[in-house]
Amino acid sequence: MIHVVYNFAVGPMVWLAFTICITGLAYRLIRYRRKAVAAKKGLPGDFRTTWAVRSMLYYLLPLNRTAKSSPWSTVAGFALHIPLLVVAFFLSAHVIMLEQSWGVAWPTIPDVWADVLTIIALAALGFLALKRLLHPALRGLTEPKDLLVLLLVALPLLTGLAAHRQWGDYPLMLTLHVLSANILLMLIPFTKLSHMALFFVSRAATGSDFGKRQVGAW
Ligand code: HEM
Repeated sequence: MIHVVYNFAVGPMVWLAFTICITGLAYRLIRYRRKAVAAKKGLPGDFRTTWAVRSMLYYLLPLNRTAKSSPWSTVAGFALHIPLLVVAFFLSAHVIMLEQSWGVAWPTIPDVWADVLTIIALAALGFLALKRLLHPALRGLTEPKDLLVLLLVALPLLTGLAAHRQWGDYPLMLTLHVLSANILLMLIPFTKLSHMALFFVSRAATGSDFGKRQVGAW
């Protein structure tokens, strides 16, 4: 039975997950653009590209004000994102699957690095969840869905690590890993995880507006 679920999860479900993720994010970007154009109707087109780019760079480097006021959250943000993206794109098991289906491949990281990076990402998610639960101001702003998003990101990491370290039943862990990764991909456009595309456009708009007001683009 588990093999049937696994074959479905690594076959048609992967295609479905990527299709929903990519078309969903494209739709969110198009809708954002439409709303931005409607909001600017009749106003002068004075988008400040330099400020927009500066604002993005200040966030990504990170030189923004939040990085100074909440250094630990910023460290956790990077400790989550860098391992997440490195493991997703450079884990040998992922690259091998891609090579088998599409014939494309690139260099991979040693598996032991992937374990360490996954543990770092899980620790960062734990920190972000605890901060949401314990910090008085943040707790007031936190809804159950904010914690669910953190869990959604944690599940493929946890099950991937368990499968690789052979904790528990290997076929079950691997199947849960692929299923949870597919579900994560499918939910990205419909949750705040859509920030992976919307961050760039919304930060650009905010940076441009702040630049016009001469208050700093970050
Ligand atoms: C180009 C890609 C991405 C960019 C530019 C980006 C940017 C950001 C920024 C600026 C934040 C807020 C500050 C922080 O906590 O660091 C954030 C938070 C977060 N991001 Fe991303 N991100 C990207 C991709 C992803 C992906 C692929 C995932 C997971 C699938 C993800 C999951 C999260 C989570 C879980 C949070 C914390 C949310 C919270 O605490 O409520 N991000 N991201």
